[in-house]
Amino acid sequence: MQKTAIVTGAGKGLGLEFTKQLLASEYKVIATARKVENYPALVTDSESNNNLDLMNLDVSSEESIKAFADSLKNKTEHIDLLVNCAGINSKSNHPHSQASSLKLGELEQQSLLNQFAVNTVGPILLAQSSLPMLKASRQARVLNVSSWLGPVSIKTSGGNYGYCTSKSALNMMNVALANDLKEDGVICVNFNPGWVRTDMGGDKAKLSAEESVEGMLKTLEGLGAEATGRFLQWDGTEHPW
Ligand SMILES: NC(=O)c1ccc[n+]([C@@H]2O[C@H](COP(=O)([O-])OP(=O)(O)OC[C@H]3O[C@@H](n4cnc5c(N)ncnc54)[C@H](OP(=O)(O)O)[C@@H]3O)[C@@H](O)[C@H]2O)c1
Repeated sequence: MQKTAIVTGAGKGLGLEFTKQLLASEYKVIATARKVENYPALVTDSESNNNLDLMNLDVSSEESIKAFADSLKNKTEHIDLLVNCAGINSKSNHPHSQASSLKLGELEQQSLLNQFAVNTVGPILLAQSSLPMLKASRQARVLNVSSWLGPVSIKTSGGNYGYCTSKSALNMMNVALANDLKEDGVICVNFNPGWVRTDMGGDKAKLSAEESVEGMLKTLEGLGAEATGRFLQWDGTEHPW
């Protein structure tokens, strides 16, 4: 049976690379973006590739997640891989992204909440709304893209409140999710993708999106049930919490 994957934030950066590599591995990919029309190359690709389906999904909106889950029922009965990749930091070129989530003295409630909405709450609500379809798969996996800026044990500087705390919370969210879904055999893993050359990572980053995604997917493929709830580096090594 052909596997089906959902990828959030699939228009660019790591999300786009996940989409490309999963298509190359013969997945059917439901690639999502806030507005798919913002990514004309992806739209063109979807017109000539039956394995690529595009859908609008704003992970910061409960309404959008519900509408997405409803339409999904007509497209597939099972989800074998959910990639929660969409994310923002304080510098993202994005309406929800504001510098006032960064520095003590400048913090604003809405700016902090916006980062949580995209980076933390979106992934768990999407996993929740996908549950029946994840359970319908014989080997479902949830891959959340976290960050090296999330772990509490290695934070030695101040600042970056919105991004760091939302990724820490994503790590905790995944442990809870993994425990809830253990008996259903759904493996839930968080990855630090490394420092990657994307709009978020910038030109000086060490890794290409190809290397990072290839490492995460290869690692994921080799994981058994005992790995659920883990936090890993893109290359499969253990990440500090
Ligand atoms: N690059 C790095 O070095 C690095 C390091 C650690 C972790 N990460 C994590 O990796 C993930 C991917 O980041 P990236 O480097 O590929 O950054 P990116 O190029 O800036 O891409 C971010 C993606 O998230 C999407 N997005 C933002 N808000 C969204 C929303 N409300 N609903 C749906 N999609 C939304 C964006 O779509 P729109 O264009 O529609 O806004 C875009 O596709 C993020 O979770 C990030 O935190 C990246």
